[in-house]
Amino acid sequence: MSYQNQLAVLFEGNGEISKFQILAQRLNVPLRQLSEQNPETFFLTWRDGELKLLDKELLKKGGLSVDISPRNGEQRSYPAPKEGAFAQAIGRKTKTVVDATTGWAQDSLCLFRMGYDVTCIERSPMMVELLTDAFIRLENESWVQKLQLAPPKLLYGNAIELLQKLDMPHDCIYLDPMFPPKRKKSALSKKSMTILQEVVGEDLDRTELFEAALLVTAKRVVVKSPDYAEPLGGKPTETFGSKLLRYDVYIKN
Ligand SMILES: C[S@@+](CC[C@H](N)C(=O)[O-])C[C@H]1O[C@@H](n2cnc3c(N)ncnc32)[C@H](O)[C@@H]1O
Repeated sequence: MSYQNQLAVLFEGNGEISKFQILAQRLNVPLRQLSEQNPETFFLTWRDGELKLLDKELLKKGGLSVDISPRNGEQRSYPAPKEGAFAQAIGRKTKTVVDATTGWAQDSLCLFRMGYDVTCIERSPMMVELLTDAFIRLENESWVQKLQLAPPKLLYGNAIELLQKLDMPHDCIYLDPMFPPKRKKSALSKKSMTILQEVVGEDLDRTELFEAALLVTAKRVVVKSPDYAEPLGGKPTETFGSKLLRYDVYIKN
């Protein structure tokens, strides 16, 4: 994947520069200092001990990192109760879940906190860097250490290929591909998702991904969809959710 003129690593004068150089080399993007002349739109840098993604608008604000804290209203005990449309769709008896479209990992981390055994797949190298940083932070959280939990396993690559190479069948494969926005600031109004849409674009191969998931899952495939999108795999076995958001469940025969 080429990030030409799109992404750079930003060194703001804090910390060891070699860490920034290594990240820039790994992603094959330039290392920049803060300047109006930088041609890139997005920047990765460490701030407050977290790897963050910035765009021009966020340069002076904090930037975006993968948020490892529980969602608003989520119970803080472990495992959190398997409640709501998301848990219903994944299935209470499900043990192992592959999140084949990890993105900002908000769904993966919610599953992890509900006690599911989660494997994450992500194909954007930039997102993999942000996720790696987040899972290290998660591993160091006191509650994770106290309970001796391992953070989700993270696999880098295209899930259409990686799903076929998993070492065992998983109970559920979860898909939340990027659909085109219905109108500006509808389902994508959260800044993190808008930025992700700008960097990775629409996931045009989502039907192929669905087929690959159905082929390898042991029990079910769950697809998160905006209300206006056609179900990815035709008529689902069941659907949970609200008006704006659906979880379509396909149970394997
Ligand atoms: C809408 S976002 C997922 C958001 C995520 N559910 C969350 O809670 O933050 C979709 C992500 O899936 C990734 N993706 C889409 N298709 C993929 C594929 N075939 N293999 C791996 N990653 C994929 C994209 O790069 C993007 O980061």
